Amino acid sequence: MSPYFIRGGRVIDPATGREQLADVVVAGGLVTQVGADAASPDGAEVVDASGCVVAPGLVDMHTHVREPGREDEETIASASAAAAAGGYTAICAMPNTDPVADNAAVVEKVWALGREAGLVDVRVAGALSRGLEGRQMADIGEMARSFARVRMFTDDGKGVQDALFARRTMEYLVAFDAVYAEHCEDQSLAAGGEMNEGEISASLGLTGIPAEAEELMAARDIALARLTGCRLHLLHVSTAGTVALVRRAKAEGVCITAEATPHHFTLTEEALQGYDPNAKVNPPLRTERDRIAVIEGLADGTIDVIATDHAPHAHEEKDQEFGHAPPGMLGLETALALSVTELVAPGHMTLADVLVRMSSAPARILGLEHQGVPPAVGASANLVVFDPAATWTIDPSAFLSKSRNTPLAGRTVTGKVRHTFFEGRHTVRDGEVLVGATV
Ligand code: DOR
Repeated sequence: MSPYFIRGGRVIDPATGREQLADVVVAGGLVTQVGADAASPDGAEVVDASGCVVAPGLVDMHTHVREPGREDEETIASASAAAAAGGYTAICAMPNTDPVADNAAVVEKVWALGREAGLVDVRVAGALSRGLEGRQMADIGEMARSFARVRMFTDDGKGVQDALFARRTMEYLVAFDAVYAEHCEDQSLAAGGEMNEGEISASLGLTGIPAEAEELMAARDIALARLTGCRLHLLHVSTAGTVALVRRAKAEGVCITAEATPHHFTLTEEALQGYDPNAKVNPPLRTERDRIAVIEGLADGTIDVIATDHAPHAHEEKDQEFGHAPPGMLGLETALALSVTELVAPGHMTLADVLVRMSSAPARILGLEHQGVPPAVGASANLVVFDPAATWTIDPSAFLSKSRNTPLAGRTVTGKVRHTFFEGRHTVRDGEVLVGATV
């Protein structure tokens, strides 16, 4: 593995907000020098980072990799390539695959395929319940003790409907110091829903999903986390009410974290006006008031993490009548640019705070020691080098994901990944994923 001399970038430590114009030397998988006077080692490849930010590699704690089961939509290798292109050095694969990741055999297989792809650290979230049915507990202990070392459990795609099941599972997870991650959606309120409930759903004749479907489950889970002491993580927070619930729970000392997606702080239910199935997602795009509340939650730290909920779907499945199209949109290759464009450029958040939400905070929740750490001597070299001022137009045909489902095609955004380094290896050079980086 050749050494790298990353020259003249703005090196940011997101946690302290400290930045310096410096060179970074990467050798043997580690950062070995940082400073204005760093010396380029013999044989080093020089990487020009002028005008660019050098920051910890991004960590996505919410990625649907679709393997096993729907390799036509995404594989662990294609999700890894899309992630690297997006500046990520770690992702967490969601368990709603076929078969479901509810046992050690599946989580170990996903983990091993991630190592084989070799472009990012692929971690795995295990299911809470067998087959995501919400009735019998999944093999949680076995998954936690497996070599995939599962730390977060979720039935994502579905909320856990039964409060007693949620309580017992939280009690069990405490023994493993594991995280209970909830897709907050009360099925009795949301069933058959296609978009946010409100004037627009009424005018389009589509069935609405009220904000309360999310908020009731968030409130229930907060009460249960208080009761059990379990670590609770709320996935894809989409409503002003949920943001307020999380803010209050944190003030009370409940052990809770939360995430929001770029689509929920970029788009609103207005995107559904043309019945574009690519704008169908779960939880649905909400109102402008909700979008602003999510941004405020991210800015004041109520929402800890920006996560993609990258959800690839085959063209033939998305390209059908709105009601029949599955929910979900891609995220890995646009998340950083949307965060810069929607959060940093308008002045809602500093770049350093955005990087905390996209790297160190998710790494901490997932217990990833070598991810989300600032470029400092001795640190594992998981790094992204991006140009925060470069503008580009989103073109799904250029994505490395196997799928194309995004409602953001044609949108101009700011912030472009130039290089990614994973465990000291160059995985993205000048915006191109180096498949040869694969081990
Ligand atoms: O829109 C979504 N799609 N939301 C989810 O929670 C699941 C995901 C999927 O798996 O397609």
